[in-house]
Amino acid sequence: MINSVFKTGMRTNLCGEINKEFAGKEVTLSGWIGRRRDHGKLIFLDLRDFSGIVQLVFNPSINKNPYTIVKDVRSEYVIKISGKVRSRSKDTINPSIPTGEVEIVVKDIKILSRSKTPPFMLEDRNKVEENTRLKYRYIDLRTRQMQENIRLRHNVTDATRKYFNSKGFLEIETPIMAKSTPEGARDFLVPSRMNPGKFYALPQSPQLFKQILMFSGFDRCYQIARCFRDEDLRADRQPEFTQIDMEMTFVEADDVMEIMEGLFSYIFKEVFNEKIKLPFKRIRWKDSMEIYGTDKPDLRFDLPIKDISGLFRNSEIKIFEDVLKNDGCIKSIVVSDSSDFTRKELDDLVEMARKCGAGGLVWIKIDENINLQSPISKFLSDTEKEGLIKNLKLKEKNLLLIVADKFITACQTLGIIRKHLAGKLKLIREDEFSFVWVYDFPLFEWDEKEKRIKPVHHPFTKPDENTAGYLDSEPLKVNSLAYDIVLNGEEIGGGSIRINDVNLQKRVFKILNLDEKRIRENFGFLIRALEYGAPPHGGIALGMDRLVMLLAKLESIREVIAFPKTQSAVCMLTDSPSSVTDEQLKEVSINIIEKDRE
Ligand code: AMO
Repeated sequence: MINSVFKTGMRTNLCGEINKEFAGKEVTLSGWIGRRRDHGKLIFLDLRDFSGIVQLVFNPSINKNPYTIVKDVRSEYVIKISGKVRSRSKDTINPSIPTGEVEIVVKDIKILSRSKTPPFMLEDRNKVEENTRLKYRYIDLRTRQMQENIRLRHNVTDATRKYFNSKGFLEIETPIMAKSTPEGARDFLVPSRMNPGKFYALPQSPQLFKQILMFSGFDRCYQIARCFRDEDLRADRQPEFTQIDMEMTFVEADDVMEIMEGLFSYIFKEVFNEKIKLPFKRIRWKDSMEIYGTDKPDLRFDLPIKDISGLFRNSEIKIFEDVLKNDGCIKSIVVSDSSDFTRKELDDLVEMARKCGAGGLVWIKIDENINLQSPISKFLSDTEKEGLIKNLKLKEKNLLLIVADKFITACQTLGIIRKHLAGKLKLIREDEFSFVWVYDFPLFEWDEKEKRIKPVHHPFTKPDENTAGYLDSEPLKVNSLAYDIVLNGEEIGGGSIRINDVNLQKRVFKILNLDEKRIRENFGFLIRALEYGAPPHGGIALGMDRLVMLLAKLESIREVIAFPKTQSAVCMLTDSPSSVTDEQLKEVSINIIEKDRE
């Protein structure tokens, strides 16, 4: 009955475990004061520790001394009490908490620590501004919600370690003070006092170290790895975050995916005692873009995107004609009931499409005689109308949304609209966990803003042999041996089979426009290591924060990180980043530009 692990000199039990079976027993408990209720002479307090809350009663006619002391006790004071557990009368039972059938008549009380009036009451957390919660994070973390989130995170970490250990992986740490090897985001730099003018970089991921551990013959390794990226933040991004990182030798993509499916299955069993269905669905990148308009498809609802370019080969509609002439495409989504949409909402969809970069969006309502009602209906030929009705199986009341544009723009625009519609029409099966692997990605993509070719994953990803022939002539046609794992429409991890051939690695760097000097400076150590017997290998990293966020059905990773940073990368609790003394700067040979001085 007593959870003896938690027994200490200051308590016999935990608050949350006191129930009917304790009636008549003496207990000693320690914890924080929650709500206080004064009922005439009687005083009731909630005593709280991580396990839950229990009601304390102070009655001057039973025990005078504690009653006198408790008069000064306020919310968030830390106290130790001893007393006798008694059953509550029927009409005072609180069925909403596990300890609600009992209360403790206090015989002895000691104040262990006082508290100023807290900036917010725990029960009001959801009404408090996030920055206040982050500034007083130690109070926020006392709430049931945060205790549960952090505990869930611990359970996921614990299950991960147990699983990988059982599969022969070694947990190996890699440096935090590492080398600047740009992987996509900006590096955080750390000046070296011993080497003036030189910098370490905080790792964006342990990518190259885990590869080198494979070259070193460890066969399989994993790490719960802290990663650092100086990029714009969002609800699912932090400047420092945690990855579940793994790497394996002598494997193909299927081997890595299978091991990871085993991990998810193990986590669900250990943490939720639930079975998940294996294997996960797999979808090629191109199909995912075509059908869901994204490489992070949410399969908890349908609304597939359909290509209707073929119906408009001889169209009179100028935009359709132009798009098809320029190798673009025409894509559509059918919504079952157009009466869910006002004219204003349809206009908003058009605006949304424009914001996504598309030229616009065409909507068509299907009336009770299966006639097509739309601002463009008079321009549609009978063949086109019939084609749409037949191919898309249009029925009375349906709403048809069409975007004509370049392949990626049309897909992505309808992908965003698809997601919006699912939210509006409440189509998402919220209690489902929907895992899907996306694979067969392009190796490179064209960055229009920076006007350069970039790796879709990272430059160490192996090209797929079937398309590798295009490497030098048309690199954008090459596919990679990369795979992403997506949960409920969020990318929770990505990995690949890596390049283990030094010449291929150099070729990829060159395609990325890295000259010899830059290759030597940034990646000389990798090139050297690849020259001494690098085995075939591959791996993956999961975003631990995102994974736990989704498991807890939350919408921000800050809810599952004990001490997160704000959107502007500030720690409200410690007020960092902060200025340092001139002395400190001098030691690391750094001058602050005058305009940035405080
Ligand atoms: P990638 O860059 O895709 O791959 O990162 C892996 C996963 O980490 C999570 N993630 C983040 N989570 C919170 N805040 C961030 N700023 C952030 N950035 C990424 C995502 C992502 O899917 N070295 C490769 C992995 C590999 O190839 O093995 C890598 O880091 O969930």
